[in-house]
Amino acid sequence: MPQHVQGVIAPGRNEPVRVETIVIPDPGPGEAVVKIQACGVCHTDLHYKQGAINDEFPFLLGHEAAGIVESVGEGVTDVEPGDFVILNWRAVCGQCRACLRGRPWYCFDTHNAKQRMTLLDGTELSPALGIGAFAEKTLVASGQCTKVDPAVAPEVAGLLGCGVMAGIGAAINTGNVGRGDTVAVIGCGGVGDAAIVGSRLAGAAKIIAVDIDDRKLETARTMGATHTVNSRSTDPVEAVRELTGGFGADVVIEAVGRPETYRQAFYARDLAGTVVLVGVPTPEMKLELPLLDVFGRGGALKSSWYGDCLPSRDFPMLVDLHQQGRIDLAAFVTETIGLGDVEKAFGRMHEGDVLRSVVVF
Ligand SMILES: NC(=O)c1ccc[n+]([C@@H]2O[C@H](COP(=O)([O-])OP(=O)(O)OC[C@H]3O[C@@H](n4cnc5c(N)ncnc54)[C@H](O)[C@@H]3O)[C@@H](O)[C@H]2O)c1
Ligand SMILES: [Zn+2]
Ligand SMILES: [Zn+2]
Repeated sequence: MPQHVQGVIAPGRNEPVRVETIVIPDPGPGEAVVKIQACGVCHTDLHYKQGAINDEFPFLLGHEAAGIVESVGEGVTDVEPGDFVILNWRAVCGQCRACLRGRPWYCFDTHNAKQRMTLLDGTELSPALGIGAFAEKTLVASGQCTKVDPAVAPEVAGLLGCGVMAGIGAAINTGNVGRGDTVAVIGCGGVGDAAIVGSRLAGAAKIIAVDIDDRKLETARTMGATHTVNSRSTDPVEAVRELTGGFGADVVIEAVGRPETYRQAFYARDLAGTVVLVGVPTPEMKLELPLLDVFGRGGALKSSWYGDCLPSRDFPMLVDLHQQGRIDLAAFVTETIGLGDVEKAFGRMHEGDVLRSVVVF
């Protein structure tokens, strides 16, 4: 029997979000229904609401979640009812050319539930990143459910489902930050701070946090930044060079997603260094750089999809490090809120008041 639950939808471009009754079908083959316990508010949800990702309104928002598997469809063997899971938005296929080359974190054919969740009048919803977890329950592909130790708090575990994983992965997987490296992180929200945590975990010698908001820089320091630069008042390229013996950082992680911050990242890195773009740009943005500088400065210009993570490998590992006290994921949770507070949380995110607001059920 299809179930009725409450969920947060974005009805149209820039319209306020609202709580609506959502119809959840029974799980079909390869699908699972998950009872959501917590879901973080990520900047990408705001991008969806603003129409900056695509036009497929109405969206069922929320994609940074943990919960308990309630039921599974035919043929599902990887998870069972009662399992505590983090939802991932890149369920790898195992069969595409990337997977077959042994690089499943690049999977080109990740999958979601085949059936659609709807409003009561039958309007089909587009779940954010194929998840839609600002809802009491959601329908996903079973491969989107990654089992982790149920001892970890859901509001902490859920963050690994997007922003924190993307940031840590941008540093350790995409940027290959290593012992003794110098790193600069531009944009210290949830994703940028996670890149700082990842860089520290990897043994970076110097971690320079760059943001336009002093409050964000203060938090960045508690996350492991060794130096901070307010790029509203100081030229960040000059500042990073000065802090790195005049050369630039080995790895610069851009966690804003704008052409001007990308240019800063490009010029703030040392020769043959690496730029990692983990911030997500909007469709109209363009980048212009002297091609000679692209050639002459060498190194690697990479983007980081989901921190190039492999959920089955990385989620349990990071939960374990959190439980050992070697990383503090709880520090990312600024506040826990109710389902009706998502619009307000977007406002607080926009004002820079929070790292993560987390909806708890
Ligand atoms: N690649 C991925 O897989 C992935 C996953 C999750 C989020 N993201 C993207 O990462 C970006 C950051 O997400 P978030 O949730 O951390 O957002 P956030 O709103 O929490 O943080 C953004 C930070 O950037 C700072 N900032 C804004 N403009 C700046 C500028 N010009 N210079 C320096 N700092 C600036 C803000 O002060 C804020 O601290 C977004 O673009 C989001 O869509 C990417
Ligand atoms: Zn694949
Ligand atoms: Zn996200």
